[in-house]
Amino acid sequence: MRKFLLGLAVLSFSFGGEITLKKPPESLKKYYPPASEKFEFLNNMHTMSTAFYAVQLNINDENWEKAKEWAQKLVKTYRETAEMVPEWKDYFDFSKADAYLNAVSSKNVDAVIKTARELGQTCAKCHRDNEVAVKIYYHFPDFHSVKVEDPIEFMEMDLGDFMKKLANSLKATNIYISQGEYEKAKEHGINFVERARAVKETCTKCHTKEAEVEAITGKEYDQALKALENLFNAEKLDTQKVAQNMKKVTVTCYTCHNVHLIPAKIKEALAK
Ligand code: HEC
Ligand code: HEC
Ligand code: HEC
Repeated sequence: MRKFLLGLAVLSFSFGGEITLKKPPESLKKYYPPASEKFEFLNNMHTMSTAFYAVQLNINDENWEKAKEWAQKLVKTYRETAEMVPEWKDYFDFSKADAYLNAVSSKNVDAVIKTARELGQTCAKCHRDNEVAVKIYYHFPDFHSVKVEDPIEFMEMDLGDFMKKLANSLKATNIYISQGEYEKAKEHGINFVERARAVKETCTKCHTKEAEVEAITGKEYDQALKALENLFNAEKLDTQKVAQNMKKVTVTCYTCHNVHLIPAKIKEALAK
């Protein structure tokens, strides 16, 4: 028995140097919140991938009866899933699914390996085209629903608009420092500190664990902002110390963007 041969990575695929993300089709909506909390489509994916592995496991145990039961379950779920999203029906190939079931039923290991790979390729093609987009669209929160109270203009605004103001305060501070206009630099510097503090208030709209907020905007962040506040309030501006502490703050912009901005941008584009 060729035990490990059956462990082939049937679902492996590559993006081939290019990735296109398309908005998920209308009919998928029914299987995700807010329309449904049951994640029916995703559950079928788990059922199919578990069944795929169960067939392999049972064949390796030479339990062909169980292997056949799981193969039947896989094919049944595959057919059901095709009905759920009519826009995607061309991704499914029932003849490949039936060939796989026949191979398992006839206890033909070579045929199982061949047909499993062929069936697996139909899964992989749809994943390549759609999985990332669906994950971002349905599993990532909407940053547009996050509003921020700007502490300078006392106005509530979208996070994106607030970010622009935060970045402009930072730029203005640096511009006036480089021009030697220190009074103006101090004024914008204070605004920047206040806005950077307000950024922290957005975190708790999604995160309930203190440790998650602390991971990016923790003690060091607070200390750097406090140091900047003191520097901007001082009579004489110590530009070197300002630069040192600014760096501690701006590194968090990148950390946070790496985690949140990229999916937020993709989601925004998909939603259009
Ligand atoms: C929550 C973590 C977080 C932190 C911390 C953060 N940002 Fe952002 N930033 C985002 C997200 C999310 C967006 C995308 C918002 C959108 O497009 O709706 C964004 C967008 C931006 C934008 C682009 C605005 C646009 O859409 O044109 C700029 C500029 C920006 N941030 C600057 C900064 C600077 C400068 C800092 C640090 C002082 C910073 N950000 C800190 C999350 C963060
Ligand atoms: C018509 C498109 C399509 C086909 C065909 C398809 N899938 Fe998927 N699959 C998806 C999408 C979309 C997701 C992402 C769903 C999500 O994250 O909510 C996914 C996700 C998955 C996942 C990851 C689940 C997770 O929790 O992240 C597994 C495993 C999976 N599919 C297995 C399979 C198997 C096995 C087959 C073939 C027998 C298959 N899929 C066929 C579209 C498809
Ligand atoms: C609109 C919702 C939203 C906002 C606002 C938000 N996050 Fe997140 N954050 C997420 C999601 C979604 C993830 C991915 C992990 C997950 O699903 O829990 C994540 C992941 C993270 C992670 C890495 C994984 C983890 O859970 O430890 C950190 C750290 C983090 N966020 C910190 C922050 C900080 C700090 C802020 C505020 C400056 C912030 N987040 C604002 C939604 C948000």
